[in-house]
Amino acid sequence: MFKYSALLLVFLYGVNCQIPYVGQCPNVTVKQNFDLKNYSGIWYLVQATYTNFLREGKCVKANNTFYSDGSIDIRIDQVNFQTRQKSYIEGYGEVVGAHGEGDLLLRLYGTTFRDTHVNILDTDYSSYSVNWICEEQTEEISKAVIWILTRSRKPSDKLIQKCLDVLGRNNISTSYLVGIDQEGCHFPFVH
Ligand SMILES: *[C@@H]1O[C@H](CO)[C@@H](O)[C@H](O)[C@H]1NC(C)=O
Ligand SMILES: *[C@@H]1O[C@H](CO)[C@@H](O)[C@H](O)[C@H]1NC(C)=O
Ligand SMILES: *[C@@H]1O[C@H](CO)[C@@H](O)[C@H](O)[C@H]1NC(C)=O
Ligand SMILES: *[C@@H]1O[C@H](CO)[C@@H](O)[C@H](O)[C@H]1NC(C)=O
Repeated sequence: MFKYSALLLVFLYGVNCQIPYVGQCPNVTVKQNFDLKNYSGIWYLVQATYTNFLREGKCVKANNTFYSDGSIDIRIDQVNFQTRQKSYIEGYGEVVGAHGEGDLLLRLYGTTFRDTHVNILDTDYSSYSVNWICEEQTEEISKAVIWILTRSRKPSDKLIQKCLDVLGRNNISTSYLVGIDQEGCHFPFVH
């Protein structure tokens, strides 16, 4: 079992630390008439697939600030669960969906997310958002990222199930998802 986990990790690191899978990116259904302004404010990352910049991260929180030019500034705060060091990264997003659909161009400074298309598969703006990134590396291999964000730090199981159902409807495997620890986030952390 241990050996298997170690191998799996090596495999994940080998492919830019994102979930690799065989085949083309699936055709997904994204949120129509996506309203970026309503998407502003605080979101907690509660489930995600592995990405480099979230390594050892807990209490991951995004703050989106909307500007009248139709863009958002993004600040993502997190705490390293080993060292309790706080850190943050900043970024920028704008909707690029040709018909106003939830296709968000995302740039997170200092990460591999540079002009990355984030598909907002579904959101109700007030409780949950299911985000999906998929890039085809070659004809056979794609890499993908899933982020489940909620307005509450501790969403109900029912809400999480609703998010997983969104992925299921789009034939996206949830088996690489891990929970992000959102416990003990008000502790006095090391700066
Ligand atoms: C997605 O849809 C396009 C156009 O209908 C099709 O050519 C392509 O094969 C589909 N991809 C998958 C993975 O089903
Ligand atoms: C955005 O929020 C406003 C005010 O709360 C609301 O009237 C509007 O319906 C929302 N838009 C969408 C697309 O949900
Ligand atoms: C979110 O960012 C805005 C703009 O920088 C700031 O005014 C606001 O206080 C932040 N909210 C939280 C909860 O950090
Ligand atoms: C999901 O997979 C099923 C079975 O392969 C297929 O019938 C369905 O069209 C797929 N749905 C989407 C959204 O691709």
